[in-house]
Amino acid sequence: MGFGTVGSGAAELLRENHDHILKNSMQDSLELTHILDLRDFPGSPYEPILTHDFNDILNDDQTGIVVETMGGIHPAYEFVSACLEAGKSVVTSNKELVAEKGCQLLRLAESKNVNFLFEASVGGGIPIIRPISQCLAANEFGKIAGILNGTTNYILTRMFENGVSFEAALREAQDRGYAERDPSSDIDGIDTARKISILASLAFGKHVYPKDVKPIGISGVTEADVKRAAEQGCVVKLLATAEKLRDGRIDVEVRPAFIRKTSPLAPVSGVYNAILVKGNATEDVMFYGRGAGKMPTASAVIADVIDCCKHVGTRKFFGWEDSEPGYTVSGNASALEIADV
Ligand code: HSE
Repeated sequence: MGFGTVGSGAAELLRENHDHILKNSMQDSLELTHILDLRDFPGSPYEPILTHDFNDILNDDQTGIVVETMGGIHPAYEFVSACLEAGKSVVTSNKELVAEKGCQLLRLAESKNVNFLFEASVGGGIPIIRPISQCLAANEFGKIAGILNGTTNYILTRMFENGVSFEAALREAQDRGYAERDPSSDIDGIDTARKISILASLAFGKHVYPKDVKPIGISGVTEADVKRAAEQGCVVKLLATAEKLRDGRIDVEVRPAFIRKTSPLAPVSGVYNAILVKGNATEDVMFYGRGAGKMPTASAVIADVIDCCKHVGTRKFFGWEDSEPGYTVSGNASALEIADV
């Protein structure tokens, strides 16, 4: 559902690596049955399976896994809920949907004994949802810090390392398929706030709602700020942090921050993202890779599809509980100050 950058990438990857993906899925066959989009794609090899009617998917008993890459809450929420209700597993790259409605959709999936997976919703091609929920499951987490938006990291890098104007750097990010349809959600830190909300929910066990996070974006960052950072041995990055406070609440911050050049987050440039996870057994673990773009994000989507294939009639148990009002605190960090990461 949604044949834009990520959806078309997922279809392409499924086609290009079909034999390898089929083998890994441990199924006898794995076929793309429908593509839902408002647009027509004349001449596309996918034209025969293109539909404008969601019911073609919902009512097809042969379709057991649905991929949602439409973005936005409506109608994605209604479509995803209907698919889960109908006993289909759902894979999504939609961070807005997971950040707002993740708890409800996970519960619905649980009640129907199907899977709701969203590795592609944070960090593009970087594995981070599965590592936090599985590989690092033995740890209590203290803090997560990350550069979670490819567009803003690309813009900051192009502006301050290559002397490109803000407008030109944004256009480049759009041409490369990194930016959101409305790029102000990248620039203003809203996309980053959604992603850190998902990671914080997963790591700390209760829903962090993005409405409770107060992001500061990058539009106010000037060359003078970058010079001042360099004088202090730092670089400027749009940084997201989530930290468990002593009283159990979670402090979630998104702001342009000075990061010391000795930090592993400092050299993360261009479209690359990185996430630093502090576990009480592992100490620091860092995940690094392309945080946006067609094929890296498609890689995460198809990995989830493979996981759904391996869990037909059973569920991967992961998720989080709902939270009480006041669980998330935000707005305590100032922009353009040295961050402890
Ligand atoms: N607009 C997002 C970014 C896409 O630039 O990181 C990936 O979530």
